[in-house]
Amino acid sequence: MVASIFFILFFSSFFFLTTDASSDGGQCGSVKCGDDGPDIGFPFRVIGQQPQHCGYPGFELSCKQNTTMIHFPTRKDLVVESISYKNRKISLLDPQSCVHEVFLNLNLSLTPFQYYYVVRNYTYLNCSARLPASFVEVKCLSGSRHHVYTVETSMEVPGSCRAVRTVAIPFAYSPYLADNSFGLGLSWNLPEHEDCEARGGCNWFLSKTGLETEQHLNLAEGFSIKSVIRNLYLKVLLCVLAVAALISMQMYHSKKMNKQQIENENLLQVP
Ligand SMILES: *[C@@H]1O[C@H](CO)[C@@H](O)[C@H](O)[C@H]1NC(C)=O
Ligand SMILES: *[C@@H]1O[C@H](CO)[C@@H](O)[C@H](O)[C@H]1NC(C)=O
Ligand SMILES: *[C@@H]1O[C@H](CO)[C@@H](O)[C@H](O)[C@H]1NC(C)=O
Ligand SMILES: *[C@@H]1O[C@H](CO)[C@@H](O)[C@H](O)[C@H]1NC(C)=O
Repeated sequence: MVASIFFILFFSSFFFLTTDASSDGGQCGSVKCGDDGPDIGFPFRVIGQQPQHCGYPGFELSCKQNTTMIHFPTRKDLVVESISYKNRKISLLDPQSCVHEVFLNLNLSLTPFQYYYVVRNYTYLNCSARLPASFVEVKCLSGSRHHVYTVETSMEVPGSCRAVRTVAIPFAYSPYLADNSFGLGLSWNLPEHEDCEARGGCNWFLSKTGLETEQHLNLAEGFSIKSVIRNLYLKVLLCVLAVAALISMQMYHSKKMNKQQIENENLLQVP
């Protein structure tokens, strides 16, 4: 009987300890889509793997075949190569290897993001004839009968060309720059650590962003001290329970022995 109480206490303490451990990082700790993928945590979250409260609206990512993807309403999905929480930079790759197609069509105005790099306005031209060699056509947007260029907005549109759109982008086209990632860095802004405490993500977020101000430092200290005390308390409780159980087991055992001894003595006295 005492032994079973002991086991119940023992295992319920384990239960306390493990729930404590998980409430530290919460369900909102970081996840990865693949072994080499970036750590995903607040303000980002992975749809289907982390509850809605773990991320901020517009920061939803998805995992497809171990690859981290981000979806934009005006574009096919892009691959998330890395996330720097400290610099608030997310680096993307275009699986179709045509960054200027992304630049041309990506409208960030309804997203929480802006380009990480300083942008300038460029005009995309679609020309039926090639321009002089000093202009380099965007290969992945051009075909045999049309030639696409990025030019300064001040340039007069040649007769053979049509201005497709003027967009603020980080870089004009250059054949020397990688066509799948160059310039595809975005940054984000949030109100100061918006609500991450309520989302259970502060600890993780703060450790990733580095402690920028004293206020955050205090916040982080408060957190860790609280959890240390809670851990300590639970460990002490566990020890006390274990010792109490052992003592009561011992007492029960020796009581039984005494009883048996008395019975034995009685038996001996009977004849
Ligand atoms: C994803 O990663 C797991 C574990 O590394 C591996 O077993 C699986 O084959 C990978 N799937 C794809 C589609 O690459
Ligand atoms: C981006 O979308 C916003 C809102 O839908 C729109 O007002 C704006 O003109 C768009 N910008 C470009 C460059 O298409
Ligand atoms: C680009 O052009 C638009 C429209 O003329 C203007 O509102 C915007 O400020 C320009 N952006 C940059 C980065 O020059
Ligand atoms: C350029 O024009 C051609 C032919 O008119 C068209 O097929 C192509 O989609 C256009 N490209 C862009 C980027 O507007």
